[in-house]
Amino acid sequence: MATCSVEGLQDLLGRAGLDTPVPEFPGSDILHNIQDVFKAYLADALQKTVPCDRLAAYDAIQPPNMTGMGDLVIVSPKLRLEGVEPKALKGLVADLAQRLPSGPPLTVPIPDGIHLRVMSSGETLARLVPPYIIHRKATFGFNDVAGLTDAQATDSPKKKIVVEYSSPNLAGDFAPRHLRSTLVGAFVANLFQGMGWDVVRMNYLGDWGKQIGLLAAGWKRFGSDEAFAKDPLRHLLDVNDKITAEFKPEQEASRALKNENKDPAEVESQGLFAERDETFQRLEHGDEEIIALWNPFRNATVERLAAAHARLGIVFDDRSGESQVSAESVAEVEDTLKEKGIYELQQDGGWTLDFAKHDSKGLGWAAMRYRDGTSGYLLRDVAAVLDRYKTHAFEKMLYVVEAKQDTHFQRIHKTLELMDRAHLSAKIQHVSFGDITGLNGDFTDCRLLDDYLDKARDLARQALADEEEGVFLNQDDQTIDRLGMSALIAQDLAHKRTGSYAMDAHKMAGFGPSTGVTFQNCYARLASLLAGQPATDEIDFATLKYDTLQTPEYSDLLRVMAQFPDIVSASYKTLEPSHIVSYLMRLVENTEIALQEDDDQEWEDRDDEVAARMVMYEAARQVLENAMRLIGLQPCAA
Ligand code: ARG
Repeated sequence: MATCSVEGLQDLLGRAGLDTPVPEFPGSDILHNIQDVFKAYLADALQKTVPCDRLAAYDAIQPPNMTGMGDLVIVSPKLRLEGVEPKALKGLVADLAQRLPSGPPLTVPIPDGIHLRVMSSGETLARLVPPYIIHRKATFGFNDVAGLTDAQATDSPKKKIVVEYSSPNLAGDFAPRHLRSTLVGAFVANLFQGMGWDVVRMNYLGDWGKQIGLLAAGWKRFGSDEAFAKDPLRHLLDVNDKITAEFKPEQEASRALKNENKDPAEVESQGLFAERDETFQRLEHGDEEIIALWNPFRNATVERLAAAHARLGIVFDDRSGESQVSAESVAEVEDTLKEKGIYELQQDGGWTLDFAKHDSKGLGWAAMRYRDGTSGYLLRDVAAVLDRYKTHAFEKMLYVVEAKQDTHFQRIHKTLELMDRAHLSAKIQHVSFGDITGLNGDFTDCRLLDDYLDKARDLARQALADEEEGVFLNQDDQTIDRLGMSALIAQDLAHKRTGSYAMDAHKMAGFGPSTGVTFQNCYARLASLLAGQPATDEIDFATLKYDTLQTPEYSDLLRVMAQFPDIVSASYKTLEPSHIVSYLMRLVENTEIALQEDDDQEWEDRDDEVAARMVMYEAARQVLENAMRLIGLQPCAA
């Protein structure tokens, strides 16, 4: 499409009165980041005005942190001017403000201490931003070259990334940490996909381990085929609750002995302890009877979970689990560690790895295999890295898992390094996140993913019923469900990833400034405004009348739209979803201000101007859609 090539872009700029070609700078990417167009002109003018290095001029220009504070900021110390004392920089900035040429694509710069703030001109914004976005549609904001094996060759294959997220446990509660992993992980996967990576979305079900042995013991006592057929996951929880309660005194007895530094072996060789361990042992040895018992549990969990994930718009490519880790990879890990002489056989028959002996004091030691011969979480996880690398030959693998498991992931890294697989260790990364503290009243009883989703949906239904004016959303069940999901997602991702937060059921689903419901409502409002407008490929951008779009309300909306690529690229570096949520808030606010301005004006007999305005809103709708989809919101009116 026209502006997707340098020539096309140049042509459009020419019509906006910019006859000089966009100056070239290394690192400038005018086809993916619209701000780079303005930045290039500014850097060129800057370098012609002060005697600085051309690259330094370009690097000294940065995006501002807030709208209204300029579209670009010249950070004067970064000009690295020879012989200019730091205290002279303020004067230099004031002088620059006088001498820098102003006029499209930029306006008169405003000095701000050692910074010089520069705004894009309303005229250029009005002409350039809407077609730039409309030509790029869903790709606007993203640089899909980032994920190519060779950024210079657009036909080179995409790099592969495995993103593991959600990963709850069989017959266990879908805990807040699983919820956050699901939401943050979906964002991270979408982000890499937008950046041109080949993304494998993976859910690593906790469907193996001693707790499965205990569950089987529970099933013997409390299991009912009928209850399982009716509501499998809840029945499994119920069975698990009952057997866990029965097991508790035994566990406490063992713990008490350990605390007194006594050997718990005898306590652990009887009762439920023995039954649990023996059953899991049989499972690890592929005992048919026990596998036949476990299989339906797993299948039902995978199936029900997929349905719940689908409500959130999430589809996994790989629904593996701890049970799927191959025996070959487990053997490879253990053999290598044995060869290196660092796998330690304990007196009780268990195997451990003592990280403290290998320059990693903080990592302590870890049980790899228990004394009954069954495998541990760490051993399976390290073996899973080998499996996944064999299957996917990934360039990168991310684990979106709570910060509390930090040590575990450091141990995975260290184990791989000890196995001489440092290159593999370098490809994996733990993307950690903080807790959801204190689930608010409405959410305290949630035990399955569907429970959270149902609560969120009910809250959205209530919020819609309470809101009397300004609702543009349909009220059908599907819309209400999506609104609930949007509320849940936006509340979570509005918080800094590494921080913790308390869920607030009251704020979450309402029409406050940065809720999912508000984003959806704004989207629906734009969609209804645009209904009946000509298809975007029928628009002749050259003949539109842009004059009215230069009033501050419209210019501000256009400039926020133009910032999206910078926002995406910042969150690509930090994997921080909250940048996108605060961006959405600004975009929605500015859209509403612009729509208010429409109402304040008289539009009769101004068809050409109305058409230009509609094109601006179509572009705004597109950016809103792109940002919403990035965090996992499915626009309701799409
Ligand atoms: N199932 C685990 C839990 O509930 C999370 C798994 C995280 N992923 C991993 N590869 N260890 O905490």
